[in-house]
Amino acid sequence: MNKTIIVSNRLPVDLKYIDDELVVKSSTGGLATGMKSVHSEGNGIWVGWSGLADEEMDENQKNAVDTALAKEKCVAVPLNNDDIENYYYGFSNTALWPLFHYFQAYTEFELTHWDSYVEVNQKFADVVLQQVNDGDTVWVHDYQLLLLPEMLRAKNPTLTIGFFLHIPYPSYELFRTCPWRDELLQGMLGADLIGFHTYDYARHFISCVSRIKGIEINFNEISYANRIIKVDSFPMGIDYDRYHNAALEHDQSSEESKTDLMKSIDFHNKSNDGSKLILSIDRMDYTKGIPNRIKSFEYFLNKYPEYKEKVRLVMLAVPSRENVAQYQLLKRETDELVGRINGDLSTISWTPIWYFYRSLPFGELIDLYVSSDVAMVTPVRDGMNLVAKEYVATRTKGDGVLILSEMAGAAKEMLEALIVNPNNFDQIADSIKEALEMPADEQKTRLDALQKRISRYDVERWASEFLKALKVAKDIVPV
Ligand code: ADP
Ligand code: F6P
Repeated sequence: MNKTIIVSNRLPVDLKYIDDELVVKSSTGGLATGMKSVHSEGNGIWVGWSGLADEEMDENQKNAVDTALAKEKCVAVPLNNDDIENYYYGFSNTALWPLFHYFQAYTEFELTHWDSYVEVNQKFADVVLQQVNDGDTVWVHDYQLLLLPEMLRAKNPTLTIGFFLHIPYPSYELFRTCPWRDELLQGMLGADLIGFHTYDYARHFISCVSRIKGIEINFNEISYANRIIKVDSFPMGIDYDRYHNAALEHDQSSEESKTDLMKSIDFHNKSNDGSKLILSIDRMDYTKGIPNRIKSFEYFLNKYPEYKEKVRLVMLAVPSRENVAQYQLLKRETDELVGRINGDLSTISWTPIWYFYRSLPFGELIDLYVSSDVAMVTPVRDGMNLVAKEYVATRTKGDGVLILSEMAGAAKEMLEALIVNPNNFDQIADSIKEALEMPADEQKTRLDALQKRISRYDVERWASEFLKALKVAKDIVPV
């Protein structure tokens, strides 16, 4: 029987050696959390990087890594420190990530980074080719592996190859600035089906193929190298039942089983009569609009001072790509902003911003989702944003309001949220007020519509629609 192999830079688990002990943690990020349930129910394997540097492990440690990964149906691509520096922190996260998120000023094009990107994509190809049989399906994910589809096809044309991009695809005017724009497109065109979260990203890609490669395109079919390549949008969903059921369980949990975080939230809710919680959850990334969010919360408190001591922003940021200079600057800016605002506005009984810089276990994440009256998801640019969908899935009592940036792919599907421009503080301040004062029946009407859509188009449906379309795309014969 043919199998499907998932390939992405990061595996669903992230490994670390702490004092010689191998620690296995769930990875954060939309790709890993989203694909996890699809993978656990499938019969295939997942190929990716373990999070460890190859030369820092002895043979026993490497064997332990392979065994731990095999339990998760995963296979590692060994990367050394140079690869991690130049391919991961380098080309992937200081060239492609900022470029594709419209942060052109942060984009650095370095030849050594590019060379490493090519080399590491080839390493991924070598591992995948060892794992496949003729006729298998390979589903390649995200911007770290844009060259992989073509590398696989060159060695094994019997494979069915799908590619999905989890981040935005930029407009031609931005993409054309990349010195290796031709090679990147060539790499992606090795796939039979190329998927994006939104119609706009797909359109930008088609425009780049047509203008850079001079290929004629018929609607969403590209005729190239005697093949037809399909391009389409597939908005990614979440494992709705997992979040929804966890929230139902939370509602029934006893006093003794509550986490410390939950006890603390309860304590503050009781002591601050009528006070409300606004939630913010992201990786610490400059695309997520964290400083803007904090500043707009401060602006809100100053514009509507009657809300002082009545509302708190709980801000959870998970450390991410800490070796990249822009991420270090963002961390410093965030620390300073939170410190200044809390210093300026706090009272004996009230701290306006609760800020956690860490990854939280699933149960505590659910505690936060369930306890928050409002979620602020205001990235300045985001491929999709699954946090917005997770928040909606956990609202089991029909209350809660989502404030969502129009720059997130999710905004295309979640029009019942309060949609804001993440750079417009005045509009955000008014939306916070509107969210806090929204009548219960309006909250419910909006949530019902969102939940209906998000539960129907969950991650399983997303994956099965992509794989169905991939099979159809592979079978198209050029005329
Ligand atoms: P991205 O893929 O850019 O990180 P998404 O919003 O699509 O953004 O996905 C982020 C995922 O990471 C979500 O599933 C979210 O629950 C998870 N996550 C974010 N912050 C944390 C945190 N501090 N602790 C645990 N999980 C987190
Ligand atoms: O969803 C976008 C994404 O970049 C994934 O490709 C990635 O796994 C995730 O965010 C987290 O980033 P990283 O793997 O660099 O920690």
